[in-house]
Amino acid sequence: MSVQERTYIMVKPDGVQRSLVGKIITRFEERGFKLIALKLVHATPEHLEKHYADLKGKPFFPGLIKYMASGPVVAMVWQGLDAVKTGRAMLGATNPLQSPPGSIRGDFALAVGRNICHGSDSVESAEKEIALWFPEGVVQYTSAQEQWIFE
Ligand code: PPS
Repeated sequence: MSVQERTYIMVKPDGVQRSLVGKIITRFEERGFKLIALKLVHATPEHLEKHYADLKGKPFFPGLIKYMASGPVVAMVWQGLDAVKTGRAMLGATNPLQSPPGSIRGDFALAVGRNICHGSDSVESAEKEIALWFPEGVVQYTSAQEQWIFE
């Protein structure tokens, strides 16, 4: 666990269409994570096929790509202590019906194929996803609040 750990978090097209971007960003900010990259992207199917390459062959793969290419997503990199695992916990279970209230999916979503957000599942995936979505790199800065968040 490192305070420098990074995770890739993405608000999916349904989250953008439903105007949940601000709420999702607020949860990560309020938890103490630092935003180091953010952009609105309308991704191509080819780009999304790279992002979801491990799932090629799953029955839901074509529908997943179509859904993800249906509108813009908000691509973000968040940094902080245990960012990958904690980020996934904040999102909740993949199936929103199994996500507890208090998690993002548990509060805002109902269907697995419209689960409003994505979070890296490991440090290795996070590195790959950050490189795919932010080939230009991410911002380096010191947050004024850091000394009040990390001992
Ligand atoms: S699996 O089958 O265990 O590998 O899948 P899982 O790890 O649960 O989910 C991987 C991503 O696929 C999305 N997913 C789906 N999308 C659309 N329809 C269906 N039925 C479906 N099942 C899984 C799921 O949301 C995961 O995407 P991300 O972006 O990582 O949340």
